[in-house]
Amino acid sequence: MLRVGIAGLGFMGMIHYLSYQKVRGVKVAAICEQTRKRLTGDWRDIKGNFGPTGTRMDLSGIATYDNLDAMLDDPKIDMVDVTLPPAMHADIVCKALRKGKHVFCEKPMALKLTDCRRMVAAAQKANRQLMVGHVLPLLPEYAWARKVIDTGRYGKLLGGSFRRVISDPAWLRHYWNADVIGGPMLDLHIHDAHFIRLLFDMPTAVSTTGRTRGKLAEYWTTQFRFKRNFAVTATSGTINQQGRSFDHGFEIHLEKATLLFQFTVIGDQAKYLCPPTILDDRGKAKTAKMPEGDPMMNAFHAELKAVVQAVSTGKKNNVLGADLARDAIAICQAQTKSLRQGKMVSLK
Ligand SMILES: NC(=O)c1ccc[n+]([C@@H]2O[C@H](COP(=O)([O-])OP(=O)(O)OC[C@H]3O[C@@H](n4cnc5c(N)ncnc54)[C@H](O)[C@@H]3O)[C@@H](O)[C@H]2O)c1
Repeated sequence: MLRVGIAGLGFMGMIHYLSYQKVRGVKVAAICEQTRKRLTGDWRDIKGNFGPTGTRMDLSGIATYDNLDAMLDDPKIDMVDVTLPPAMHADIVCKALRKGKHVFCEKPMALKLTDCRRMVAAAQKANRQLMVGHVLPLLPEYAWARKVIDTGRYGKLLGGSFRRVISDPAWLRHYWNADVIGGPMLDLHIHDAHFIRLLFDMPTAVSTTGRTRGKLAEYWTTQFRFKRNFAVTATSGTINQQGRSFDHGFEIHLEKATLLFQFTVIGDQAKYLCPPTILDDRGKAKTAKMPEGDPMMNAFHAELKAVVQAVSTGKKNNVLGADLARDAIAICQAQTKSLRQGKMVSLK
């Protein structure tokens, strides 16, 4: 039985806690949170942009801490699940690894590439697994696209365009602070940077144009260059108006098929602007059937199942591995640099 300590019981801490309840071979053995009432099981003020809202929880049998170091010293914990704000990820992950714990950390891995490198080195030195919560490849539409590509039935990948745009999340206090969250590049687009890295390997250069807010990218389009002849672009960022809180999608080109998908939330209406659809080379447009149930909660369940399996078997999970998560940060960092400097930026 893998025993997990959750560090930071906010929105994601709660989603992870609920998801672990459905995974075999794991037990949430400890929770560390600075908001004391949550340690008594009062989660009623927790709310995010998907999934259930918090209720009163029975935490009997779970060790509770309001100090992170104290939880890391708990010898009964095998893995630390870090759901703290991004600026705290690097230090706490390295500390947990030094204490001999495996670590699963929410995205973004860290705010800076140098921190990501430090985290990967700490995992290697400690001989422990470090995984990062890049859940997008496990969302039904993205998992469908990967599956179609991996069959090889439609030939080689040629490229794609990816989109992720939200209304300005004005209610998130530190969203536009480069030292706390890092704006839409690290909070939002990081998902597509990771997905692009997963599908096409590491870009050799990026060229980004768009607008900034202070030092941060606000809304932009990037062209990605690769050693191979791929044509890949992404558009991400925020718009100033409320009313369309979320919009994401892709168009992925293969030799013998094109994969289409766009989902949006306008007002309080969530809908497909284009359901997952495959255009094949016989001129047919076929809509793919997605699995039943809440797609987000299903994706987190799949994610944590994969994390528990990786640690329990010692077999690393490539999709959730720290190397890809670090590369995603490198890509985002290069995109921001390209946008600020107005020129193409190479990635080594
Ligand atoms: N994968 C996804 O789709 C997704 C969605 C939302 C958030 N996230 C990521 O999850 C992470 C957390 O985001 P969130 O929305 O849950 O934030 P949150 O603010 O709701 O939760 C963070 C929690 O950490 C606690 N905390 C902060 N400092 C602490 C300390 N020193 N000791 C103990 N507790 C402390 C806070 O009190 C808070 O409850 C971020 O990295 C975010 O990017 C991922």
